[in-house]
Amino acid sequence: MPQTRTVATADLTTAERSAIRELLDLAFLGNFDDHDFEHALGGLHVLVLERGEPIAHAAVVQRRFLHADRSWRGGYVEGVAVHPGRRGQGHAATVMAEAERIVDQGYDLGALSASHAGRGLYLQRGWLPWQGPTCVLAPGGLTRTEEDDDSTFVRVVAGGAELRLTGTLACDWRDGDVW
Ligand SMILES: CC(C)(COP(=O)(O)OP(=O)(O)OC[C@H]1O[C@@H](n2cnc3c(N)ncnc32)[C@H](O)[C@@H]1OP(=O)(O)O)[C@@H](O)C(=O)NCCC(=O)NCCS
Repeated sequence: MPQTRTVATADLTTAERSAIRELLDLAFLGNFDDHDFEHALGGLHVLVLERGEPIAHAAVVQRRFLHADRSWRGGYVEGVAVHPGRRGQGHAATVMAEAERIVDQGYDLGALSASHAGRGLYLQRGWLPWQGPTCVLAPGGLTRTEEDDDSTFVRVVAGGAELRLTGTLACDWRDGDVW
């Protein structure tokens, strides 16, 4: 019987951290680099475990967003992946449900960058495609990220300030893919 576990990066053993990286490498067919993994660290990991091994993963990390003339505390979902041999069994839905709970209870908004494979999952779960321009607060200033406009999704948190989906959404800076 698979078990679900939510754990802070700080509480993972070295072996557990390596097992998550192996799952992500496998799930993304090698298109998952050190920056991508670093982006998934520092917050909370949601895991589905089978015989102690992770078969599904999602991480929620805090990022700052600039939108509608204010700074938003965002729960950014990273590293959503299910082992290729375990897909279509609801494990992505399980890790996303817990990631969404973390976003809803702890942040002003949720955000993520959807892969082609992930789009349907997020749409089905009520995540909203961003409709306006996306940007990054780069060291040189606010910079457009046109290539990320179509893959950026947000989650509206109840009781929070209203997002203007056609407005500009800027993320904080990081090495590797900024979204
Ligand atoms: C995307 C991924 C995580 C989905 O895993 P999964 O095990 O197939 O997902 P689930 O079985 O939990 O599916 C959850 C629901 O989303 C739906 N769903 C999943 N992928 C979908 C897609 N591409 N299009 C439409 N619906 C989709 C399923 O039909 C299911 O709906 P249901 O509950 O009504 O049956 C998996 O394919 C994967 O790891 N892909 C490679 C890594 C990747 O691209 N991750 C996304 C990063 S943004």
